[in-house]
Parts: sequence; structure tokens; C-alpha cells
Amino acid sequence: MIELCGVHSIPEGSTRGFDIQGHRLLVARKDLHCYVYRNRCPHQGVQLHWLEHQFLDRSGQYIQCSTHGALFEIPTGLCIDGPCLGASLEPVDSEVENGKLYVYL
Ligand code: FES
Repeated sequence: MIELCGVHSIPEGSTRGFDIQGHRLLVARKDLHCYVYRNRCPHQGVQLHWLEHQFLDRSGQYIQCSTHGALFEIPTGLCIDGPCLGASLEPVDSEVENGKLYVYL
């Protein structure tokens, strides 16, 4: 179990990227829940973000791959539009304890 950060350091509706012990991850905070995925697009295996810590599309409703624009649901990681339609981001097991976000890698 690895401590990533304090939950409150990720504001509601935002995302953050992490590179920890060789693992590239993204965290999206939505409806007070933290969703953690590998920062890897199922289309071509590249990192997803546009700029550091920026993973969402303009609407703020979906995670978007910066390479070809695939859109992923935040709660499920499912691609609902783009070249990897029907594929999913790889989820990472996580839990919140005493206001801190931990991941199992
Ligand atoms: S590499 Fe992500 S949509 Fe093509």
C-alpha cells in the first residue's frame, strides 16, 4: 500500500497525475470519490494527459486522451468515443484512510 496524497489536495472535478515507483497513474476526483487509473491509453499505450495534471475534456465530464481524443467515463474508465471504443482504462485499487489516498500496486 503506497500513500499517494491527501484527498483534499485534489479538488472536486479535477485530476492529478502521479509518477510513483515507476508507475504512472492518474486520479480523477468526482462526486467526492477518487478514481485511480494507470496513465496509459488502451489505444496505443501512450500517456493520456494534455498538460501536467490535466486529463479531462473541455466539459470536465470525461477523461480524454490527448493523442487521438478518446473519451473515457470517469467512474468506470470505459471508452465511450474514439478509436478504442469499448476498451477501458486499467483501474488501480485504492482506498482512503484518514483523509489520505492509498494505492495498491
Ligand atoms: S493513443 Fe489514445 S486515443 Fe489514440
